[in-house]
This record gives sequence, structure tokens and C-alpha cells, in this order.
Amino acid sequence: MQWHRLAGYGVLCAVLFRLAWGFCGGQTARFSNFVRGPAATLRYVRKLFGRAVDESPAPIGHNPLGALSIIAMLGLLMAQTTFGLFAVNVDGDGSGPWSRWVSFETGRRFAHWHAANFQLLLLLIGVHLTAIGFYRFARKENLVPAMIHGFKSRSLPSQEAPYFVPWWRAVIVAAGIFICVAFLVNTHW
Ligand code: HEM
Repeated sequence: MQWHRLAGYGVLCAVLFRLAWGFCGGQTARFSNFVRGPAATLRYVRKLFGRAVDESPAPIGHNPLGALSIIAMLGLLMAQTTFGLFAVNVDGDGSGPWSRWVSFETGRRFAHWHAANFQLLLLLIGVHLTAIGFYRFARKENLVPAMIHGFKSRSLPSQEAPYFVPWWRAVIVAAGIFICVAFLVNTHW
């Protein structure tokens, strides 16, 4: 459970970093750049599955379906770690650090939600992998490299190139989040 909690805090830091980066990161990382309303998402889905050959270039950043996937993944991971923080474990000393602030029954309820939410996460991971396979084989678009190194190769007029932010901004945001999480999960205060 000690390793489980440490890994969970790592996930929590990563999720909080991505949320913050959605507001202060580079152009394609910002939520305002890729989160679209239902109408635009539906238009995109129709085009994706439509018979007509789509000659328009793929978006530089996340497409509207990718945006939905990101929001779902961040939401489920945020819920998973929050439920874990309050979860009471009955065998041994493995409860989440915030379980001391809730009753035993409530802590067990959080443990139950923690287990149930994990099934949703597995489902979402399955959908995500299926979508990557669909883009790879049906649309001949490999989404994975850009997920790893953050770059896509496109020829664009220079005025359309997305802007980046300095790397040290990421270091400051990550350090701030790490310090906050370390402080909040250390309940000796
Ligand atoms: C994304 C991160 C996490 C994942 C995927 C995850 C996943 C899981 C899973 C699959 C279980 C077993 C559930 C069951 O079938 O009973 C579990 C149990 C547990 N987790 Fe996590 N966990 C995460 C983060 C955390 C965090 C951050 C904490 C607390 C600091 C935590 C605390 C617990 C506790 C206390 C249990 C035992 C609950 C019980 O006894 O029923 N988890 N977790």
C-alpha cells in the first residue's frame, strides 16, 4: 500500500500539472484551444465516419474527440486519486491519508467508489487504445509519436505555427504542484 499511495501521488501530480498546463501551457496544450462544443464535435464525427474523402489536414493540436478523451481521462484520474485519499482499508495500515477526517463508513464508501471508478478507467483506456488503432489503420494517421514527444510534422504558413512557452514555466508549475501535493498528503501537520 505504501508503493500504491506513492504511485497514486505521482498520478495526482501529473493530473494537476496537466490541468494547470491547460491554462498556462503552449497553444495546443490549452483547453481553450481544443475543447469544442457538442455541435463542433458532432460535425467532426460526421466528417470522420463520412464516405466523402476528407482532404482537409488533421488539426495540429487535439481533435474534438481527443479533447473529450482528455477531459474524461483527467476527470476519472482526479476522481480515482481523490477517492483513494479518503479510502479506508480494512486489512492493515493502508488507508488514504485523509481518511482520518471522515467516519469509518464514509471511508469504506470512498474505497468502494475507488474500486468502481477503476473499472471505468479500464474501460476508458480500452476506448482510447481502440481509437488509436482506428486512426492508425482506418485513417492512416499515427497519433502515438506526438503523444510521446509532443511534435507533429506539418508544412504550415509561419503565421499559423502554434506558439510555445518557455520550458522553465513547466518546471515552476511542476515544482509548485509537487510541493502542494507533498504538503497536503503529509497529514502530520
Ligand atoms: C490513479 C491512481 C490509482 C489507481 C489506478 C488505484 C487503483 C486501486 C485499485 C484497483 C484498488 C483495489 C480496489 C479493490 O478492488 O478493492 C485500490 C485500492 C486502494 N487504493 Fe488506490 N489507486 C490509485 C490511487 C490511490 C491513492 C492516491 C490512494 C491514497 C493515497 C489510494 C488508496 C487506496 C486504498 C486505501 C485502497 C484499499 C481500499 C480497500 O481496502 O477497499 N489509491 N486502488
